[in-house]
Amino acid sequence: MIWDVSYKIGVKQIDKQHQEFFNILLKLENSLKRGTVTEHTGIAIKNLVDYTKTHLKDEETFMKLINYPDIENHKIAHQGLINKVKEILNVLKTGEKFTTSNLIQILQDWIIKHILTEDIKLHKFYSDYLDQNNKTESNDEEIEIVIL
Ligand SMILES: [Fe+2]
Repeated sequence: MIWDVSYKIGVKQIDKQHQEFFNILLKLENSLKRGTVTEHTGIAIKNLVDYTKTHLKDEETFMKLINYPDIENHKIAHQGLINKVKEILNVLKTGEKFTTSNLIQILQDWIIKHILTEDIKLHKFYSDYLDQNNKTESNDEEIEIVIL
């Protein structure tokens, strides 16, 4: 599954991270498709776990910074992603036979739904925030780089 322009929420750094997230998932999917869990798979899983943590933390920092009002519910939703990643890790650790593509598919479906229903709300709020604080386009980029 590749990131698609329809998943764009309009906040540059978050969109960039979402794209990277899809890349990492694709690498893991390709690695798991080879059938055996190798060192390569281990690296792909570690990348997924690390990137999930980094991305969610950055998104939550961003929400705090713009005083996004629905941050607590959004954080609860993020916990759902962490649980899904843990689920994958546990299945891999037990070495059980499982349909890897199903697990990756569940994760991808979750992320796409989350982006399109929750993350997308950040754009509208962020645009209003920039207007209220008289931020210009160039300031906009600076802020995003500093906070994420
Ligand atoms: Fe999110």
